[in-house]
Amino acid sequence: MSSENPALASETGTGSGPKAVTVRVGILGCGNVGAPLVELIGQRNDAIEAATGIRFEVAAVAVRNTSKPREPAIDESLLTTVANSVVTDPSIDVVVEVIGGIEPARSLIAEALKGGKPVVTANKELLANVGVELYEIADANGVDLLFEAAAAGAIPIVRPLRESLLGEDIQRLMGIVNGTTNYILTRMTEDGASYAEALAEAQQRGYAERDPTADVEGYDAGAKAAIMASIAFGTTVVAGDVYHEGIANITQEDIAFAKHFGYTIKLLAIAERFADDEGFEVGVTVYPAMVDETHPLASVRGSFNAVFVEGAAAGDLMFYGRGAGGYPTASAVLGDLIDASANKTRGSFRPVPAGPRARIRPVDALGSAFYFNVEVDDTPGVLAAVSGAFGRHGVSIRSMEQQVVSEGDELGRARIAFITHEAVERDVQATLAELQDLDAVFRIHSVLRVIES
Ligand SMILES: NC(=O)c1ccc[n+]([C@@H]2O[C@H](COP(=O)([O-])OP(=O)(O)OC[C@H]3O[C@@H](n4cnc5c(N)ncnc54)[C@H](OP(=O)(O)O)[C@@H]3O)[C@@H](O)[C@H]2O)c1
Repeated sequence: MSSENPALASETGTGSGPKAVTVRVGILGCGNVGAPLVELIGQRNDAIEAATGIRFEVAAVAVRNTSKPREPAIDESLLTTVANSVVTDPSIDVVVEVIGGIEPARSLIAEALKGGKPVVTANKELLANVGVELYEIADANGVDLLFEAAAAGAIPIVRPLRESLLGEDIQRLMGIVNGTTNYILTRMTEDGASYAEALAEAQQRGYAERDPTADVEGYDAGAKAAIMASIAFGTTVVAGDVYHEGIANITQEDIAFAKHFGYTIKLLAIAERFADDEGFEVGVTVYPAMVDETHPLASVRGSFNAVFVEGAAAGDLMFYGRGAGGYPTASAVLGDLIDASANKTRGSFRPVPAGPRARIRPVDALGSAFYFNVEVDDTPGVLAAVSGAFGRHGVSIRSMEQQVVSEGDELGRARIAFITHEAVERDVQATLAELQDLDAVFRIHSVLRVIES
C-alpha cells in the first residue's frame, strides 16, 4: 500500500482503525544487545503502534555465524552474514548497528546514512573515536544518527542533554558510567574484599570481561565521557582527549581512610567547561576519587550507574539506572529506533549538536581537592618538613590526621593523611616530587582526588 509521504515505508491497517506505518528495520549484530532488541520489538510492537502509529518489522539481522545458538531464539530466515546487503537493501527503512568496534561498523553506518537510512547505534568506541565524521554524513544526508545507548546504557542522558537541557549552561558533568568498576569498588567498600577478589567475583558474575583492561583502566568510561562532553558542551571531544587513571591500585587501606574521613571511593568520569577569552576549554578525566558520602553519586552502588549534571540555571540533576546489560541497552536502542522512525515518517531529522574540535585543558592545569597518605619517620620536626613542602607549592592543607601505625608497618614510622583545599594538579605533582625527596618521608602510599558535596 503506498503512502502520500514518500518518507513513509508502507501503511498497514486492520478493520476501521487508523492505519499504522510499517517501518522495516535492519539490525547489524545479534549478540548481548541485538538479540534482546529483536525480542523487545516483538513484545512492544502493539504498544508502540498505539502510541506512535508506527509498527516495526524486523526485515534482516546480520551476524557473523548464522548457525550459532541464540538466546532469545531468532527466526533463522532473517539472518544473513552479508551485513552490507542489509544497509543497501532499498526495502529497509532504518538500520540499527549493534556489532561494536570500529570496522566494519564505521563503513556500514556511513553506507546506510548515505543511502538515506537513519541509523541507531550503541557503539561508544566508534563514536568516541570517529563520531564526528558520521555525524557529518548524517547531517549531509538529512537523516538521524541516534546513540542514546552509547553514553550510559539504559540511562537517558543523550536525549536530555540535546533536548531538555539544550538551553542550559552546563558547567560540569560527573558520571559513574562503568558498572564493572562500580561493582568492584562496592564489594571492596561494603564487604572488605581485596581488589583481586572483587575483580574475580565480577568476572564470575559476568560483569567483567576476561580481559578487564577497558573497564578497570577507565577506557570504557573515557569513551562515554567523550561522547557526553561533546553533546553537553556542543563541541567535539574524542577518546584520546580523555585523561585516565584506573582502579587497580586502590587498596583496603584507601577504602578505610576514605570511610574514616566521610568519603567513598568511586571511579568518576568528569567533563568540565571553562570559559575564557577565546570561548571555552574542556577538561575530560576519568579517575578514582574520594566522593563525600553525602554527595548523590556516593549512594550509587553495585553495577548501577548515574550521571550527575550541574547546570547554571537548572542546578543539580542526577540520572540513575542500568548503564549496561542486554535488555537495558536494548531498551535505549528501541527508544532511539522509535524516535528515528517517527522523524523519518515526518521527513525530519535532528542534527547532532557536536560543534568544532574542543580546546582541551590538560590535566596538569585542572583543579581538585586531594587526599595524600604519606608514611614518615615518627621523629620531631617531620610534620613541619612535610607541611612545608605543601606550602612551598601553594597547596593548602584542609585537614590532617596522624594514623596509628598498622601491624605491617615498621615501628618508628607514622602515617599521615592529608586532605587539601582545591589545588591545581601541577602544584600537587610538584609537592609530591618534593615529598619523595625528603629524607623523613619513607613512602607515599596513595594520592586520590576528592569530590565534595
Ligand atoms: N552489552 C552491553 O551491555 C552494552 C552496553 C552498552 C553498549 N553496548 C554496545 O553495543 C554494541 C554491541 O554489544 P554486544 O554486547 O551486543 O556485542 P556482542 O554480544 O559481541 O554481539 C556482537 C554481534 O555482532 C555480530 N557481528 C560481529 N561481527 C560482525 C560482522 N562483521 N558482520 C555481521 N555481524 C557481526 C556478532 O555475530 P555472531 O553472534 O554471529 O558472533 C554478534 O551477533 C557494542 O558497540 C557495545 O559497546 C553494549
